Amino acid sequence: MKHKYQVVTFGCQMNEHDSEVLAGTMETLGYEHSEDLEKCDAIIINTCCVRESAENRILGYVGNLKRLKRIKPGLVIAIGGCMVQQPGMAEKIRKRASHVDIIFGTHHMHRLPQLITEAINGGEVQINIEENEGEIPENLPIKRQGSMKAQVTIMYGCNNFCTYCIVPYVRGRERSRAPEAIQKEIAALGREGFKEIMLLGQNVNSYGLDFEVPFDFADLLKSIDGKGGIERIRYMTSHPRDFTSKLIDTIAGSKTVCEHFHLPIQAGSNKILKLMNRGYSRETYLSLIEEIRKKFSLCSITTDIIVGFPGETDQDFTDTLKLMKEAQFDAAYTFLYSSRSGTPAAKMPEQIPLNVKKERLQMLMEIQNEISLSINQKLIGQTVEILVEGESKTSDQIMSGRTRTNKIVNFPGDKNTVGKLIHVDIKNAKTWHLEGKMINSPQ
Ligand code: 5AD
Ligand code: SF4
Repeated sequence: MKHKYQVVTFGCQMNEHDSEVLAGTMETLGYEHSEDLEKCDAIIINTCCVRESAENRILGYVGNLKRLKRIKPGLVIAIGGCMVQQPGMAEKIRKRASHVDIIFGTHHMHRLPQLITEAINGGEVQINIEENEGEIPENLPIKRQGSMKAQVTIMYGCNNFCTYCIVPYVRGRERSRAPEAIQKEIAALGREGFKEIMLLGQNVNSYGLDFEVPFDFADLLKSIDGKGGIERIRYMTSHPRDFTSKLIDTIAGSKTVCEHFHLPIQAGSNKILKLMNRGYSRETYLSLIEEIRKKFSLCSITTDIIVGFPGETDQDFTDTLKLMKEAQFDAAYTFLYSSRSGTPAAKMPEQIPLNVKKERLQMLMEIQNEISLSINQKLIGQTVEILVEGESKTSDQIMSGRTRTNKIVNFPGDKNTVGKLIHVDIKNAKTWHLEGKMINSPQ
């Protein structure tokens, strides 16, 4: 019988994709995935540290595995990714969680086979967190989560150093994958029947800035647009500071790059934006989204916002609320500022008390929910094209898909529609999704 493994993921899409690589690696070692942790011979935990809440959840999760290790001493427990890459964290885990066998940082994913073999042969807990920004490992095995949507990493790391963010410290400097490697991966995905590609990077619009021969993100999009049966191309995350007109024009002229712009603004006050080191003002941000809306008759714009950054006064927060009303985002992902040790913001004076942060978050969410609902209501009566992804969360009679603008649309239908592009009449609108009726049978 094959040995069993499970990869447990915390964090963003980048991490979810890294976990696909970790799962692929385990399978080439002869392991088989199991949903049942009790049956596993190896558990790999891929961690996040962007906010303290994630870190606390992970430490709790790892603590709970002690019981399993006691019953099954041969169990290999590996913990990797962003959280363990922070200074002092590996030691902390070693001391607090002696049942962990392997600690591997973001630069050591590809060494997992060797680390697992060594752990099986027994011995000391292994810590591998040195930074290594040399060559990008290519041709790693990937066990994809779905068969319709695939994620493709185009660059690693981040050079932005927003003052609140831990990512540049744990993911290292920006490194772009060679265009040929990306194009080859996408062509293969097209042959396998994938319909949608999500290009991943901490800041995709910096893609290619590290190349000697100029080839930027817009050039990359142009080179993959409309090829190999891929119907939709998305990307994340992009930085409003370097979202160029060239990029906007390229997207407008493309066939498959979707009209969804995720542009994290983070705050609406110029004072706070400066303290955050974001490199744009509320005015330049607003003119960017105006430019986008002029070019696209139909598009969606979403954002990320942090409330309670150090020094954020009531006036600064009011500026953020005003910006939300002006910008009319389709959706906003809102976060309480979380102090991350080692970042400049952690040392700034005037840290905001938790209750104030929570009150602000609540106000922000209420305003945004109203805006999202009213934007969605405008779609009632329209016909939209969706790519059907699967059953909805609530019922197997209701299917769920997304528009090119990334809106979730639920409709009565059956499984035959999965993976197909269909047209739906929008009948009803909610804050986070739309409801509709299919008007043609799948091609
Ligand atoms: N505290 C709260 N939110 C954060 N983000 C990044 N760092 C922090 C932090 N220290 C948010 C940003 C980013 C999103 C992925 O997470 O809004 O865009
Ligand atoms: Fe978490 Fe950021 Fe790492 Fe993603 S990149 S896993 S959000 S810390």
